[in-house]
Amino acid sequence: MRAYVLEHYGGPEGARLMDVPAPMPGPSDILVKVRAAGLNPVDFKFRQGKLRVIHRPRLPFVLGNELAGEVIAVGGDVKRFKVGDRGFARVAKDRAGAFAEQACVDEADAAHMPQDLDFTAAAAVPLAGLTALQALRDELAVKPGQKVFISGGAGGVGTFAIQIAKWLGAHVTTTASKRGEALVRSLGCDEVIDYTSQSISEAGRRFDAGFDLIGGKTLDQMFEIMKPGTRIVSVGALPEPQTAIKDLGGRRALSALFWMISYGIRSRARRAGVSYRYLFMHPSGSDLAQLAELIERGILKVTVDKTYPLADIADALAYLEGGRAKGKVVVTMT
Ligand SMILES: NC(=O)c1ccc[n+]([C@@H]2O[C@H](COP(=O)([O-])OP(=O)(O)OC[C@H]3O[C@@H](n4cnc5c(N)ncnc54)[C@H](OP(=O)(O)O)[C@@H]3O)[C@@H](O)[C@H]2O)c1
Repeated sequence: MRAYVLEHYGGPEGARLMDVPAPMPGPSDILVKVRAAGLNPVDFKFRQGKLRVIHRPRLPFVLGNELAGEVIAVGGDVKRFKVGDRGFARVAKDRAGAFAEQACVDEADAAHMPQDLDFTAAAAVPLAGLTALQALRDELAVKPGQKVFISGGAGGVGTFAIQIAKWLGAHVTTTASKRGEALVRSLGCDEVIDYTSQSISEAGRRFDAGFDLIGGKTLDQMFEIMKPGTRIVSVGALPEPQTAIKDLGGRRALSALFWMISYGIRSRARRAGVSYRYLFMHPSGSDLAQLAELIERGILKVTVDKTYPLADIADALAYLEGGRAKGKVVVTMT
């Protein structure tokens, strides 16, 4: 089968399309004929070797973290799927393999696709949708009437986050440039700060929960607009000790490393009276089923910016890496 394979870490030349053997499903796996796969910044960060401290699989390694397709075989222990079902999934991090004509997924990580959603839109949901759900519902525990600030609302995660925060009953403010303003407003965002011409600090110290997708100066400014005693969850800045303990299996050496690299951020958070948590999302078939239900009920819309054929996946990744995507970028298999 054709697959997009990482041969060495670094620039785009480290990965290429090639023929590889199709994967064999284990007892709890479904084998999926991939119809579409979503792209995420983690794909190029992984290719660049930026995640090697956390996860270092043996190369060559088939890239790709989320997919939608048809089930063509199931392992002996699989209960919820049968051949012919339409499924979608955020594939386990140590496994990946979504940029390929076929991929294996543990059934615990997969869900049935929403009715009436095509494969392209379904492939755009898992990673970004789960990130937004797990941050806003679980980590920030957003309640009706709260004021939520989301940095970077126009990208893959942000377009889901705005809608999920609205579904949870929040008043939502986000940052977007003029390029993204119409999109974030169409998703229900109440207030938009144009980050290219306005400072976030102008929003005033009035927010109950912060979800940061950008990091750096943006995160620093977010500390200034949170009410004392509130929390910021980031997926765009630096991991801290809780990340290693809660999200990465309690690895002590990683926890110490993350303590060091996040020292400055945690100090600034403490001075502002705000708590800081960096989240690594996790695959979850049950959370994905909840997203599917929200899509079926018309509460959650999927924003696909561009689609590319698998043959042009390098161009698709380069577009995403440019940092201007509005919603999601997806590759489709023929
Ligand atoms: N830890 C985790 O589990 C996890 C999970 C998912 C994602 N992430 C991380 O979260 C971040 C966001 O992911 P994504 O998929 O949403 O990325 P993305 O789709 O590539 O985001 C692109 C969008 O970001 C906007 N943007 C760029 N700079 C901005 C700024 N300074 N302020 C506001 N908006 C800005 C761009 O809008 P303009 O064109 O208007 O500038 C563009 O629409 C990435 O760093 C990703 O690696 C982490």
